[in-house]
Amino acid sequence: MTQDWWGFASKSESEYRNVMHGQGMDRLRDHNILIGCEEEIEFMETIIALHGGSARGGRALDLCCGAGTMTDALQRRGYDSTGVELSETAVGLGLRLWPRCTFIQADTTDIEALPPGPFDLILAREAHPFSRVDDWKMQRPLIAHLLSQLRLGGGLVIAHARVGGGMSTASVNFQRMKREFLNEGFRGGGVYSHFPFKHLRFRPPGLRTLGSVSRLGILAQRILRYRWLEFVVLVRVRAGAATQCG
Ligand SMILES: C[S@@+](CC[C@H](N)C(=O)[O-])C[C@H]1O[C@@H](n2cnc3c(N)ncnc32)[C@H](O)[C@@H]1O
Repeated sequence: MTQDWWGFASKSESEYRNVMHGQGMDRLRDHNILIGCEEEIEFMETIIALHGGSARGGRALDLCCGAGTMTDALQRRGYDSTGVELSETAVGLGLRLWPRCTFIQADTTDIEALPPGPFDLILAREAHPFSRVDDWKMQRPLIAHLLSQLRLGGGLVIAHARVGGGMSTASVNFQRMKREFLNEGFRGGGVYSHFPFKHLRFRPPGLRTLGSVSRLGILAQRILRYRWLEFVVLVRVRAGAATQCG
């Protein structure tokens, strides 16, 4: 099981330290989302709604949140948001920059250390335990736990760039994730592309169109070797629905 998260996080750590010591936030450009959070949240909420859920406000959990730019955007969007992050430096920055949010310094893969639900939105955006390894032994119980912490109508969103879409390392297997966790209690799927939503102002009228346009978006970003996020979303549609191992 992968546990050396610092092997992946050392570059961002040195930039968190630079920002902590007075250098500009733009140092984080390659490590954290700094602009466009609102559009991304709108995109996630749209997918959740198209799958029969409704994540609009309520409680949000932002896993591997970095310095908390997205955690803060979620708070401004009306969520009571909590960020979980391995780096003490990044948590220190989050607490300093976004005092209205809650930050917890913890390893996302340590289920015991995560704050209890229920949550309306759980986000793992460019979160190394999903984005940098294909390790189902670790990922399966973690996903089952996260699903068990969703409120009815709430959604779990896992989003990152993948091999062929600008990344050279493996990541969680989206197909296996859907195969094992989509059941009568959880709807969703993907893989969805944010590219047309953000750049072409495309607003999907329904799931079928979202799926087709996403496939084109993903193809385009792969041909262009453009490093862009791909999203998988699982929505709780039945109260008390059991996850297969949670
Ligand atoms: C690429 S950054 C993404 C930050 C943020 N989610 C975003 O999209 O802007 C990955 C972050 O995950 C953190 N991280 C890596 N492994 C982690 C783990 N096991 N638990 C918590 N945070 C972790 C790193 O320290 C880093 O801040």
